[in-house]
Amino acid sequence: MSAAPIKAPESTTGVFSKGRAAIAARTLRTDRWWLPPLVTVLGFAAFIIYATVRSFQHDYYWVDQYHYLTPFYSPCLSDGCVAGSSHFGTPIPDLPHWIPLGFLVLPFLLLFRLTCYYYRKAYYRAVWFSPPACAVAEPHAKYTGETRLPLLIQNAHRYFFYIAGIIAVINTLDAIKSFHSADGGFGLGLGSVIITVNALLLWAYTLSCHSCRHISGGRLKHFSKHPVRYWFWTKISVLNTRHMLLAWTTLGTLMLTDFYVMLVASETISDPRLIG
Ligand code: FES
Repeated sequence: MSAAPIKAPESTTGVFSKGRAAIAARTLRTDRWWLPPLVTVLGFAAFIIYATVRSFQHDYYWVDQYHYLTPFYSPCLSDGCVAGSSHFGTPIPDLPHWIPLGFLVLPFLLLFRLTCYYYRKAYYRAVWFSPPACAVAEPHAKYTGETRLPLLIQNAHRYFFYIAGIIAVINTLDAIKSFHSADGGFGLGLGSVIITVNALLLWAYTLSCHSCRHISGGRLKHFSKHPVRYWFWTKISVLNTRHMLLAWTTLGTLMLTDFYVMLVASETISDPRLIG
């Protein structure tokens, strides 16, 4: 069956512009091309709903006995933080309930992920339909790319990467502090393992960033003259090939870590202990 030719609108720059193949159907694909965008949007929605509910809950984020702090509330810098959860002091007064206790880092973490090269691809397809899949026409008549607001902000990704590096250091300190026993010495429980694995995976995701790869090995004319940067670049390039996997894995481990801390903090379950 042949599709009838369509008349291209005069002023468009998208797939229906002059010079593009005049095909009436939005796509000739017969496979389930809509499945990956659907799964993507469901995954994002699950994370956003969970993180929003937990961030505004203001409860069950700290296990005083074992020094477990959920990453959604770290660092906890307000006078309203429960005793012991503020590893860097409380320079900020008590906050109204509509401000999350992790308000200082959550916007930057969100911007880091929103401007991530992988997430861009994912939500441009799944949310923006620009385009929804290969060989499926987008609904927009014009395409201006990332050359004007609001998408111009995507170009600031490198700066959000720097901030994410600082937050990864804070998560690492939280992981070290989680090796704490009820009597005040060294301790090891399932919570310590979960918090530490989450911190390591956050490092892997952060270091596998395309900006990090460019910072380590970009703009060099001769790798042979920069052996240290070349070494970093090769290692980060290996991680970078798994960036999409790490992007999804860390969404999962962030939720899992927070959920586990919430269960222990609310005394729904007790933490299995190997030491202390
Ligand atoms: Fe994904 Fe930088 S490209 S975090």
